[in-house]
Amino acid sequence: MKIGLIVLSLTGNTMKVAHRLQEELKHLSLESEILPIETTDEFLTPESTSIKHQVDLSIHDYYVLCTPVHGFLPPKLIQSFLKDTSQTKKIVGLLVTHYFPFAWMGGLSTIKAIQKQSEPPLNKDRFTLIIHWKRKNLEEQITSGVRILASNLSQL
Ligand SMILES: Cc1cc2nc3c(=O)[nH]c(=O)nc-3n(C[C@H](O)[C@H](O)[C@H](O)COP(=O)(O)O)c2cc1C
Repeated sequence: MKIGLIVLSLTGNTMKVAHRLQEELKHLSLESEILPIETTDEFLTPESTSIKHQVDLSIHDYYVLCTPVHGFLPPKLIQSFLKDTSQTKKIVGLLVTHYFPFAWMGGLSTIKAIQKQSEPPLNKDRFTLIIHWKRKNLEEQITSGVRILASNLSQL
């Protein structure tokens, strides 16, 4: 089974966790590939909306969307990505990083917004992970979070 990790990351946090998820998948003998979302703008900013290349979702069996939170919502570029509903069909998992220490401060509302645009619906309990960057136990959150997510993905 091959898994594509579709990643938007402006300052590197989400990319770091996506790489950790990739390592964990490798431990479970699952092949994965990081697929960064790029913009046509000269620089990627929170205002970027225009996607450079639409991700080709025919290559991998499943996809995990990895994104930061911007203003309690998915970044504008992720919202553009999700507008093309054919893009959501094989997305089974969500990895969200945000700054604040509580899920209700952006993580949950971002997941909810993405779920609203996803068809078929995502299984929130088994396939979503929120990393709270400001919490003291960041490393622990990442280690245990990617382990659980990778293990659940391996059972697909
Ligand atoms: C424009 C903007 C809005 C943000 N809004 C939120 C927010 O509502 N809640 C939150 O917890 N973090 C918020 N953040 C922080 C990012 O979600 C967080 O730092 C994330 O881990 C960054 O990931 P990245 O380095 O992959 O871009 C915001 C960051 C930016 C740039």
